[in-house]
Amino acid sequence: MTASRPTSDSPNLTTASSGGRRLLSALSARQLLVAPSILSADFARLADDCVCALEAGGDLLHVDVMDGHFVPNLSMGPAICAALHAALPDAILDVHLMVSNPHEYIEPFAKAGAGNITFHVEVVDDARPLLRAIRALGVNAGLAMNPDTPAQALLPYLDEMDVALIMSVHPGFSGQKFLASVLPKTAAIRAAAPAHVRVEMDGGVNAQSAKSCIAAGCDLLVAATAIFAQKDYAAAIRELRG
Ligand code: DX5
Ligand code: ZN
Repeated sequence: MTASRPTSDSPNLTTASSGGRRLLSALSARQLLVAPSILSADFARLADDCVCALEAGGDLLHVDVMDGHFVPNLSMGPAICAALHAALPDAILDVHLMVSNPHEYIEPFAKAGAGNITFHVEVVDDARPLLRAIRALGVNAGLAMNPDTPAQALLPYLDEMDVALIMSVHPGFSGQKFLASVLPKTAAIRAAAPAHVRVEMDGGVNAQSAKSCIAAGCDLLVAATAIFAQKDYAAAIRELRG
């Protein structure tokens, strides 16, 4: 697979930005977005693999941050996000914080070029101050929920967020099976959310499960295994779009 930098006239790349970053909200609200999750990329040639995924039709890059506490795994920190932002300044970086203390990390990831920062509702008493703090840094703000967390946990905050992320696996690892039990609450969140809020499904999304995610109202699909474990990224992304 050959790799080259995305150009500014690529159909996936728009020009809206904030403080040198590209925001998730820069992408057309009507578009179904596919976010390759770099957790399954080749870390030894990360930037090249990300370019391949974007050139293959990925709209943005999903960056999973794990602290070994909120989830039983470790992954990436702000330095990797900053290195990717420097190598691929046009790429939108969708940072998913699976950490117990997200307030300590929003500024480092904002400085590292994140275009969206999502944290988990399970780790805060009130999500509002942190959602506001993320937006005040000029970054889109997202709120995530685990598979067993009810829709009611997110509903009070829908006016304060840009992204509602629904985990369709227990967070921590790529390559798990999609949990269809999250689909009814996904539809409930979509129905209650303002139009500008992206509904993002994360975990076990493949060509089959993508159909039910889209039917439930998702407009942002995250996929690690279903893209990076495939030989032909472009075909894999086309299949996700259905
Ligand atoms: C899991 C991560 C996901 C993961 C998805 O904790 O949040 O983003 O990378 O991997 P797949 O698509 O393989 O389920
Ligand atoms: Zn994720």
